[in-house]
This record gives sequence, C-alpha cells and structure tokens, in this order.
Amino acid sequence: SRPKIFVTRDDFPGIELLKEKAEIEVFKGTQPSKDEIIAGLKGKQAIYCSLNDRIDKDVLDACKDSLKVIGTMSVGVDHLAWRLCFERGIRIGYTPIILTEAVAELTMALLLATSRRLFEAHNEILQNRWSSWSPMWMCGPGLHEATVGIFGFGRIGQEVARKLKAFRVKKIIYSRFSPGEIENDVGAIKVDADELLKESDFLIVLCSLNENTQHFFNKDRFAQMKPSAIFINVSRGGVVVQDDLIDALKRNVIKAAGLDVTTPEPLKADHPLLALPNCVVIPHIGSATYKSRNEMGEATSQNILLGLEGKPMIHEWKG
Ligand code: GLV
Ligand code: GLV
Repeated sequence: SRPKIFVTRDDFPGIELLKEKAEIEVFKGTQPSKDEIIAGLKGKQAIYCSLNDRIDKDVLDACKDSLKVIGTMSVGVDHLAWRLCFERGIRIGYTPIILTEAVAELTMALLLATSRRLFEAHNEILQNRWSSWSPMWMCGPGLHEATVGIFGFGRIGQEVARKLKAFRVKKIIYSRFSPGEIENDVGAIKVDADELLKESDFLIVLCSLNENTQHFFNKDRFAQMKPSAIFINVSRGGVVVQDDLIDALKRNVIKAAGLDVTTPEPLKADHPLLALPNCVVIPHIGSATYKSRNEMGEATSQNILLGLEGKPMIHEWKG
C-alpha cells in the first residue's frame, strides 16, 4: 500500500513528486500548531516540514507507532529532536549544499547593506532629508582592507570567505566549535573565539544552533568586540541574547548589525529591533533564490521517498 505523508503547508515546492508515490495530507494554512502537527501525523509514515515546525519529544511520542521519516526543507535541524529520532530509528532528510551559494550571497548583501547603510540612506530620501550631496553624510566602513571574522566556518562560511576574497579584505579569520581543521582555499586563519571577537571589523555568524552556540553572543561578548564592529547573523536567532544585542546597538558598544534571523520569527513591525537605525533586519530569506528554494523542495521530497524505501537519501542528517 502507498505510504502516508503529512505535509505542513500547501506551498512547498516539490510536493508533486510525493503525490505520484504516496498519499499525502496537506495542512490547510501556513503554520500548524503542535496539536495540529500531532493530529496531522496520526497514522503517517513521514512528514514534510520546515524550520517553522518543531518536532519535539511530545510530537515524537504521539506518533511513535507510525513515523519513520522526517524531511525538512532546511539545512538547520535545530527544530528537530534529532537525537531522539536516531534512538527510535526515524531517519531525517535535510537540504545542505543546495543552498550554500544563495545563503553566502545573502550574507554579502547584508554585509554591504549594513556597512554602507543602504536602508538608512533610502529612508533618508523617503523622509525628504536628501538636501544635497554632502561629503561625510551616510559614510560607513568599507570591506576593503577589513578584518572579517567568521563564526562557524562550515560550507557556507567558507563560501562567504571565497566571495570576500574578491572584495580584497585584509584578513579572514574564523573560529568553530567542532574539532578538526577544515581545508580552505582562501588562506583564512583559525583563531580562538576571544581573538575573533577582539579582531573582527565584521563578525559574521554562520554556525548551527546547538548547546554550544545557544546564546553565545551576549553582553560580555559584545563588550569584547570593537566599537566599530559590524555584527552579521545568518544562522539562528537563538545564538544571540537579543536584548543584549539591542542594548549594545543602542549604547554603541558595537556599530551596527545585519540580521536575517531573529527571536522570535516572525517579528512584528513594532519590535524594538526595527526601531534601531543601525540595524538591518530581513525576514529569514537567506536561501531564497528561485533555484535554491526549488531544489531544496525537490530534494526534501526525494529524501522522504528514498527514506521510506529504505534507500540512501540525497542528504541525510547523521548528527
Ligand atoms: C535556513 O535557515 C535553513 O536552515 O535552511
Ligand atoms: C561621486 O559621485 C563622485 O563623483 O565622487
């Protein structure tokens, strides 16, 4: 008989692939609650989900007689209780590599938007404050000759380093939590986290969210950074104590921030982060190129189908 799959929203790319081989139930709406996920998963062997959908112990307990495969359309797996999944023999498909270029490009966009104050400058025009070309108006630090720190030097971090080379930065330094050196073709220098904080003109966070990185960027860490430093986060809001960041931006402990990720998501328009002129916030669109998102969707469906057939997935999370 055909396997049954719960899909947590109706606009995922790639779900036609599932329809050919399985019975799918699609959640009507964009964001099921935990109870709605549990209800949807009843009797299903697989779930197609995204980083919006928290699959925790309660959910896994509720569907423990049927669930075999989770396919998440994301590179991050911090929304999944994946260790428990492994204990219970539930396989997890995810979408690394496919989105590396898109996220690295978006990181470059945030670096430039923040350092060259693009949104602030655009807003000046909207406010009718463009009175003349003026010599020191809307100045910011350039990337040329800057020291750029990358916190979390994985595939995306390394691609950002490659792109930064073309901007002729002075030095690329990185730190990471997992052991072992990584090959890199850009001459990036490994330093410890303290040196990364102290030396970086731009500090880019591209780590995954886990026990080691949760709330790493707090008041003390911002205080270690240069007052001229620009902080960029394209990983997860949870790596930052956000109130400490807001405070650091208000008191000019650091110069500016560019954020693709926040706590919570979505943010409402009246959130204090959005009132800060030195903070660029965009709504978690790191991987949002047509190509990347379409391929992520297809891979998610293929991962699920391969997982259900007991075959190797395109990309399987192994911890
Ligand atoms: C995006 O944040 C992802 O995990 O794919
Ligand atoms: C800027 O537009 C310049 O001419 O310097």
